[in-house]
Amino acid sequence: MHVLGIDIGGTGIKAAPVDVATGLLLDERRKIATPQPATPEAVTDVVRELAGSFGWNGATGATFPGVVAGGTVRTAANVDHAWIGTDAAALFGKALGAEVTVLNDADGAGVAEMTFGAGKGERGTVLMLTFGTGIGSALFTGGLLVPNTEFGHVEIRGRDAERRASEHAKTLHDLSWSKWAGRVDEYMRHMEALLSPDLIIVGGGVSKESDRWVPLLTGIRARIIPAGLHNDAGIVGAAMAAAGIATAR
Ligand code: BGC
Repeated sequence: MHVLGIDIGGTGIKAAPVDVATGLLLDERRKIATPQPATPEAVTDVVRELAGSFGWNGATGATFPGVVAGGTVRTAANVDHAWIGTDAAALFGKALGAEVTVLNDADGAGVAEMTFGAGKGERGTVLMLTFGTGIGSALFTGGLLVPNTEFGHVEIRGRDAERRASEHAKTLHDLSWSKWAGRVDEYMRHMEALLSPDLIIVGGGVSKESDRWVPLLTGIRARIIPAGLHNDAGIVGAAMAAAGIATAR
């Protein structure tokens, strides 16, 4: 089955058609900067433009950088607060004239990684963390997802973890790899103390440069593996959710 996957982030909105049986992109992914402010109307315009650029009018899945329950957005830390309470599935569905499934961005990335990437075949407790504008999380045990975990907002040194340790924080505060890795290490130690994962998958754009920081995470017992699908995981997971493959196998 071929499904359009759209990954909505605080900084960029990416899309590509996906073969959900293989997890492969069927065309080069396209990316448009997230409009600022990222209101429901402005983001929907970009979603329409991306789908139109592929001539797409079929099944579509989209991720969103906040809590999503039954297609409705419940939180919006890094996009416009007008999203809170918006039925994103209905909004995008109307704009595209097709059925659209919407889920949290890290959950989407996690589902894709558990099926086609770094978590394939893992049955134990797996924590996926995505480092981008914020920190996203997806938690699995026995291959099943616990949705909307929001671990980027646990408090470290009195602040939201994502304020200290997201990729955005690295850029904003001009942190060296070692300084930033120290913050990530501290955050992950905290998460490890709470969840005792067997495996931590690290994703987001910064996973492409994992050689520069993953070896510096020395305080963690769990295995740490960079996302196999890198930054395409959200697109693939969005498509899988729309195809009804909601949990990892
Ligand atoms: C949001 C999460 C999201 C993460 C990554 C956080 O600020 O609350 O829902 O998964 O950013 O985009």
